Formats: sequence, structure tokens, C-alpha cells
Amino acid sequence: MTDKQFPLHKDKIAELAEVYPTPFYLYDERAIRQQARDMREDFSWVKGFANFFAVKACPNPAIIQMLMEEGFGADCSSLPELLLARSVGLEGEQIMFTSNNTPAEEFSLAASMGAVINLDDISHIPLLERTSGVPELACFRYNPGTSRSGNVIIGEPVEAKYGITRDQLVDAYRTMKQKGSKRFGLHTMVASNELQESYFVETARMLFELAVELQREAGIRLEFVNMGGGIGIPYLPGQKPVDLKVLSAGIRGLYEQIIVPEGLDPLRIVFECGRVVTGPYGYLVSSVRHVAKKYKTYVGLDATMANLMRPAMYGAYHHITVLGKENAPLSMRCDVTGSLCENNDKFAIDRMLPEVDPGDLVVIHDAGAHGHAMGFNYNGKLRSAELLFKEDGTVQLIRRAETVDDYFSTLRYPGSPYQI
Ligand SMILES: Cc1ncc(COP(=O)(O)O)c(C=O)c1O
Repeated sequence: MTDKQFPLHKDKIAELAEVYPTPFYLYDERAIRQQARDMREDFSWVKGFANFFAVKACPNPAIIQMLMEEGFGADCSSLPELLLARSVGLEGEQIMFTSNNTPAEEFSLAASMGAVINLDDISHIPLLERTSGVPELACFRYNPGTSRSGNVIIGEPVEAKYGITRDQLVDAYRTMKQKGSKRFGLHTMVASNELQESYFVETARMLFELAVELQREAGIRLEFVNMGGGIGIPYLPGQKPVDLKVLSAGIRGLYEQIIVPEGLDPLRIVFECGRVVTGPYGYLVSSVRHVAKKYKTYVGLDATMANLMRPAMYGAYHHITVLGKENAPLSMRCDVTGSLCENNDKFAIDRMLPEVDPGDLVVIHDAGAHGHAMGFNYNGKLRSAELLFKEDGTVQLIRRAETVDDYFSTLRYPGSPYQI
């Protein structure tokens, strides 16, 4: 038995697969909305609390809109992501623009939309000034260097390309103040998929202490701190999810200890989480094509790492359920593969599954964030459809599957129907 659940019966999935051939992604609207509500409730003591949903985690307007309706903003990292946020009606400071190595046109668009621009480096200041002037609200991404450690996904802060150093911090804010900025925010993101509440409490401590120091040394008062994303989810059965109530209470204790006595209350606390919001509530549904017995047993799916690259990229565990065989004994040791010409195109290695047969439907769990979004076209593989399992029990297509025509549409060659 496992604690991994799937909201639909096998027969319903088989019915859906008649209309939308596998592989496809399926998102659970009810669960996503509930998670957003819980997060807001858990941080309701924070004046102006917000989570700017990291669009990169699940860049589909249906999802962003649903989260906007639940009071979330959007965190964007590129021009198309800004347009996605705008497409659902998000505007102004409902949008956080946290990018790196940023091109001028992205600063221009973000500024023209009134988004909060979070600068990754001091060298970006002149470019921002040239493209869109000095922002009223100045925000920097901070990299704590050796004073914090990261993890396998994001790397060690001192090795990371993101954010300004401790030595640069005070001058960065002084500079923006001298140039005319009137409002200030501070951002950091040190870990990714972190399951320890205490890690984020320490991040809050770091930001609160910096708020105090920036007031003393740069003469600026922070309006908000942005804790970034990175709250993890339990990919492994039996792992404990982050308890947002415990996390929030830990941050609150430090707020009262550090921020209130310094007269810095109210200080807005915001996040830009993606994974914890949609990750557990999105599934990749696929069919078994072949069961091949070689030196090992290979269960070949019609999905590939082009649909979900986390296992190949990070060695990440994603739980797999064979629909209709949930209670069958786990008697088959196998690698679960795609069809790319890459031997790391595997969703699982040496996984125990029930006896699997061609035609079986499988669900790959916890694919609702950084799943479809990280897809690619290597080997001519096409991106799958995305479906939304709605609160009223219906299923809505929110992205159609790519076609061979889509694949050819960017190619130019003699006889191509798509000419420049
Ligand atoms: C700057 C930034 N913010 C937020 C996120 C979202 O992280 P997560 O989905 O793990 O919460 C990311 C993820 O890569 C990021 O790079």
C-alpha cells in the first residue's frame, strides 16, 4: 500500500484516452485550489502575504488563472512568462519578475507592465535605467555564499550564478536610493525541493537580519522580503510533506524577535513557490507499449523523458501506479523507460511493480510542477496534451498535444509549406 493517490478511476482514464491519446498530463483543480487556500490561511498573520506562483513550474494560463482567483500572483522569469501572466489578467505588482542574465526587452516589458523587477546583479542597473528608467521599487536577489548550503537541484550558493553577494548588498541599495528609488524589497532563494521547515525559518532569519542591517547601513526600510520558492514535496511514499503551519509559526517567532523590536513592522513576507502548489496534484498518464526481457526487464511507455525529465536529470524518484493493479503484489523488478535514444530515458530503475502488460495504463505521480514545463523535442518527440480535472467532475483540455505539423512549422527547407 502507498499513500500516493490518484483522483480518477481507471475506467475514466481509459475513456479519456480514447479522446486524448496517452501520454497526457492531468491536473486536479480541487486539490490545487485547496493547497493555495491552505497556504494563504497558514500565513494569514502576515500583512499582505502573497505567493507569486512560479510560472515556470506549470506555465499554463488555466492554472495561473485558477491561482489568481485564489489570491496568488505570478513569478515570471522570461518574456513569454510575463505574457502568460498578463493573459489571465494579472497586472502591476501582482507580478514578480525574477530573472537572471536578463535581456533588455524583458526589462522593458516587465517595467511597462508595472511588475516588481527583482535584479539579479548590480551590472543590470544601467541596463534597467536605459531601458525603462529607475524603478520606484528596487529589489535585489541575494546570494548568501558560503554562509548557507543548497542542495543537488540548485547547487551550493557559492557556486550559483544567482544573486548579489553580501559585500555588494549595502552599496546596491544605496545606489538605487541615490538614483531615486523610494521603495525596497529583498529576495533570496537558496534551496530547491527542501523538506525541512527549519531551513526556511533560517532563511527568514537571514532576511530579517539583513532588513535590520540595511536600515542601519543603507538607510533604507524594506517593504517586503521574498523568500523565493523551493518548498519541497514528498516524492517518495512515506516522506513527510512540509508542514506550512510549523514553518509559518517559526517565521512568526523570528518576526516578533527581530523585526518588531526594530520598528520594522509591517514587513511584508512573500514567496514564489511553484512545486508545493501544483506538484503533487499533477500526473503524467501513459500507456505501456512493450515489456522487454533482456538482461533486465524493461517496461517501455509511450511517454519519454521529453515529457518528464526530472528522473533523468536529477535522478529524482517519481512514484508509478499501474491503474487497476493498485493492490496486486509488487512482483516484477523493472526499469520503466521511454523511447528516446538515450539510456537515461528512464522514469524508474529497478522499481518493483505489479506484473505489467502492454496496454496497461500507468500514472507517474508528482508531475504537476517542473514536469510538462521542462519538456523538449529531442528525437522528434512531441509534447503531450494537458488536461484539467475540474471541481465539477468534468475534464477540460487546457493544452492540446503537439502535432508533427507543429514540429515542422519552424523548419525552413526547399518545398517547406512554411516560408518566411
Ligand atoms: C527564482 C525562482 N523562484 C521560484 C522558483 C520555484 O521553485 P519551486 O517550484 O521549487 O517552489 C524557482 C525554481 O526554479 C526559481 O528559480
